[in-house]
Amino acid sequence: DTATLSVEERLQGVCDLLKETIEYYDWVGFYFKNGDKDELKLSSYAGAHTDHTIIPFGKGICGQVAVSNQNFVVPDVNAQDNYIACSITVKAEIVVPLFVDGKNIGQIDIDSNTPDPFTEADERFLEWVNQQVAVIL
Ligand code: SME
Repeated sequence: DTATLSVEERLQGVCDLLKETIEYYDWVGFYFKNGDKDELKLSSYAGAHTDHTIIPFGKGICGQVAVSNQNFVVPDVNAQDNYIACSITVKAEIVVPLFVDGKNIGQIDIDSNTPDPFTEADERFLEWVNQQVAVIL
């Protein structure tokens, strides 16, 4: 009964679906602001285990998006100096902020093992995904 699924279970379903459906999405996860702290906390994800369950604002691609409120598309992670590596197989990353009532409360983070795979279509699609997620939070 989908009506009884928790938010985490619903987000897990979104992560699993995106990872399984889009071949160049190799890790899909949601990070959210951790209470009133200036840090992100990992919520549901699909893909390899990561040690980076807490990310301070400003650190890495995710932490930069927490303060910039802007999409961040990274065609080549090895060319970034402010980057937190989760897996050596990752070549590219996209992070899209998630807004509720105009406030940046978290983000969707996608890692790809394919170099430079993300286009503006991914940005528009992930913005749409986040808008759908915003109404179930
Ligand atoms: N690469 C991210 C850290 C999160 S892992 O990709 C899951 C970053 O630089 O913020």
